Amino acid sequence: AKAEIGIFGQGTMGRALALNLAERGHDVAIASRDASEIDAAMAGAGPLAARLHPTRSLSEFVAILRQPRAVLFMIPSGAPLDDMIARIRLLLDVGDTIIDGGNADFNATRARAADLQPGGLHYVGMGVSGGEQGARHGPSMMVGSSDQSWAQLRPMLHAIAARFRGDPCVAHVGPDGAGHFVKTVHNGIEYADMQMIAEIYGLMRDGAGLALAQIAERFDAWRDGPLQSFLIDTTVRALRTVDPQTGHALVDLISDRAGQKGTGRWTVIEALKLGQSASAIEAAVAARAWSAEKDMRVAAEHLLPAVQPGAIPPPEVLEQALLAGRILAHAQGFRVMQAASEAYDWSLDPARIAEIWRAGCIIRSALLDDLALALRGDLPFGHLVLSPVLRARLTASIPALRQVVAAATLSGLAVPSLSAALGWYDSLRRGRSTANLIQAQRDMFGAHGFHRLDRPGTHHGDWVGELQSTKDNTG
Ligand code: 6PG
Repeated sequence: AKAEIGIFGQGTMGRALALNLAERGHDVAIASRDASEIDAAMAGAGPLAARLHPTRSLSEFVAILRQPRAVLFMIPSGAPLDDMIARIRLLLDVGDTIIDGGNADFNATRARAADLQPGGLHYVGMGVSGGEQGARHGPSMMVGSSDQSWAQLRPMLHAIAARFRGDPCVAHVGPDGAGHFVKTVHNGIEYADMQMIAEIYGLMRDGAGLALAQIAERFDAWRDGPLQSFLIDTTVRALRTVDPQTGHALVDLISDRAGQKGTGRWTVIEALKLGQSASAIEAAVAARAWSAEKDMRVAAEHLLPAVQPGAIPPPEVLEQALLAGRILAHAQGFRVMQAASEAYDWSLDPARIAEIWRAGCIIRSALLDDLALALRGDLPFGHLVLSPVLRARLTASIPALRQVVAAATLSGLAVPSLSAALGWYDSLRRGRSTANLIQAQRDMFGAHGFHRLDRPGTHHGDWVGELQSTKDNTG
């Protein structure tokens, strides 16, 4: 047997990972349900083809893998994956490892791991971030696996991972579904970050009435500052690209309905299940959903009253507001991971997660280096917003976020993710919330009871007046 790992699925990501491994000196067996994918992968591999071993049947694929075998699936999660697992498990031996390198619902990953375990097979849910370029030249990888699988995969993953000051951006974050969970939250943060950038773009376009070139210039100026990140870079590139056919800016020709494959939604669903809130991420998921209702929005623009845009804060304020929003979205994501870690007993190391997101992945940014430091340091109540490093950052940037959310609101311009982030921050920093009134209402109509500030125990109120009956209402 000659191959150290087999990759099943030779689409964009599978092929890029195979070439990355080959380039680092690893022998890779490749397979696909679609034979033309294998031909294309071999034809495009150049000298690296020497380390790629094309196979034409599942038995041939399994036979050329060194034992214990490692089989990486790079195919759509769900039914196609389950179908392949059902077929390959019959050919594998005790101690072999199956890896899913796609985006998967971590609940499904846990179920698959539990299903394979009695037969002695290891199942790894591995989050791979960085798109095609990342996969080819250095992705960030979040591995959920047994210790044995990690020991086996570690040298290969270290070799192909992105590096941040020499540190490979890959970690064994926990068992079974932990890797896919962490990747899901990464994507949730990605959604919020993209949405907040789009909201700031919207303020410049629809509020300040800036031309596209001016907007691009503003974002370009932020590339080297505290907002330094892959997503700001992609924004500048997107704003500057001209459509060769028409000569128009491409971004102006793109339909304003966003797609989504589900990872952002999973983050929000899991956050809610854990009794947490990821409101900035939820707002981003929702904004994509509303964006898809284009016809309704076009009609609504004429049916609902318009608002005359007021003044939009200057670029330096927008920059700080975006920074504050970015910090808060990350804080929500890390909070959700912490809750999951406790609920599933994963012992996630949040600082290590921030470290492996500093390069290779879509949300890589200067901020993640600060977050890694903050997470290694003092974290009162486990909240990032209370770490000394971030408190200083937030103290400096929150006034700008307030100014931007206020200006946008008065101008009738939607900034759902930025305002959700601010709402969350303001909720967290109040010693006395308004939930005393919620408790009073719950007790009044449902006798749910409440605690008092001035004495121990559970109490009920002797509420004045009478509850209005539904009958009265109909009269
Ligand atoms: C990454 C990306 C990648 C991808 C997702 C999200 O980390 O490399 O998150 O996984 O972009 O498919 O895409 P949607 O926006 O379609 O949900």
